[in-house]
Amino acid sequence: MVSFEPTEEQLMVQKTAREFAARELAPKAAERDHEGTFPRDELRKLAELGLLGVNVPDAYGGAEMGVVAYSLAVTELARACASTTVAVCVSNMAAELICTYGSEAQKQRYARAIVDGSACCGAFALSETHCGSDAAALRTTARRDGDSWVLDGSKQWITSGDHAGVLVVWARTDNQGDRGARGIAAFIVEGGSEGLHVGKHEDKLGLRGSTTVPLTFESCRIPGDAMLGNDGDGFRLAMTALDGGRIGIASQALGIGLAALDAARDYARERSAFGRPIADKQAIQWMIADSATELEAARLLTLRAAMLKQAGVPYTREASMAKLYASEAANRVCYRALQIHGGYGYTRDFPIERMSRDVRVTTIYEGTSEIQRLVIGRSLTSA
Ligand code: CAA
Repeated sequence: MVSFEPTEEQLMVQKTAREFAARELAPKAAERDHEGTFPRDELRKLAELGLLGVNVPDAYGGAEMGVVAYSLAVTELARACASTTVAVCVSNMAAELICTYGSEAQKQRYARAIVDGSACCGAFALSETHCGSDAAALRTTARRDGDSWVLDGSKQWITSGDHAGVLVVWARTDNQGDRGARGIAAFIVEGGSEGLHVGKHEDKLGLRGSTTVPLTFESCRIPGDAMLGNDGDGFRLAMTALDGGRIGIASQALGIGLAALDAARDYARERSAFGRPIADKQAIQWMIADSATELEAARLLTLRAAMLKQAGVPYTREASMAKLYASEAANRVCYRALQIHGGYGYTRDFPIERMSRDVRVTTIYEGTSEIQRLVIGRSLTSA
């Protein structure tokens, strides 16, 4: 029999995240959203709990608890505050990437700094103004100059890009772009580096407690040993990181969906119409039943992708399936939950309004639904 039951250790990580979320994230989630407050203190506390490096080896300061534990933790955090959770997801993704491909010195310095919170968080700078889905079309360049690399270009949609002490940045080392996806390398850049300029915060629909900024590199000189992995391997590194990242976003979407379902069920029990709680009406029960069923399917797909990654076997397709399904299901769940709340759901007096805005981006970032379908479709049809 295939077991999806978490182990004792995984349950412990889940419980840690759940208790932290209830105590530290939930009470100020609405305020973070209204005021656009970045969760800096909360990230420091999450680092103390090991939640910025759940799947990072102990040798680099991580919790070394694996991918399933990571997924369970992200879901618990997202139930309380999706804004904080995205900074957690990107930090875990950057720290893991550095641990997988970095030199010993890079792992000790940069992965550790993300995980122990001294870097505040990590960032992942791949997209540019003209290319998000077509990541290999990026134009930022890296030129060797003596003992240094010099970066020029700009990046777009960088989560936590203004707070991160450690950024992984992708740039072309074939200045003409003639090597396509094979002309790209990844670099580790320290936040605050000279020549790295942070642009204006995006005024977003949701995740308003998380920052999203453009970055400009103007003759940004970084050390000669700042390359992560080998020259020409950068695109593959990005794809590998995103495979894992998509499990994180599927887990986040699941968490938002579960919170919306809870809110809808509670409201439906309290609210009466035509002399009875609306929870007794079949129309409402069917919405709740569909939502619970879809979230259960999302949970199983996400856990399966996490289990495959943890087992060290290919999981690209399963991660895309989890991300595609969980993000779209969570959007449907939030839509129904708001519908159940009626007019009240459309106001800031109820958290479903924030959840409905926060959930929207889960079908867009770390690969749109269309890109997930492309990845899944190619894997099923290529010879
Ligand atoms: N693992 C390892 N290698 C992979 C891979 C994977 N999952 N996918 C592709 N590759 C390799 C291929 O094998 C190929 O290698 P060779 O050159 O050796 O043959 C190379 O990468 C190029 O692959 P493709 O020809 O498939 O590349 P493509 O240009 O057709 O693009 C794509 C593929 C799937 C569309 C990719 O561009 C993609 O995933 N796009 C979406 C980008 C994305 O998700 N961006 C998110 C931004 S980050 C973010 O949102 C974070 C945040 O802040 C929240």
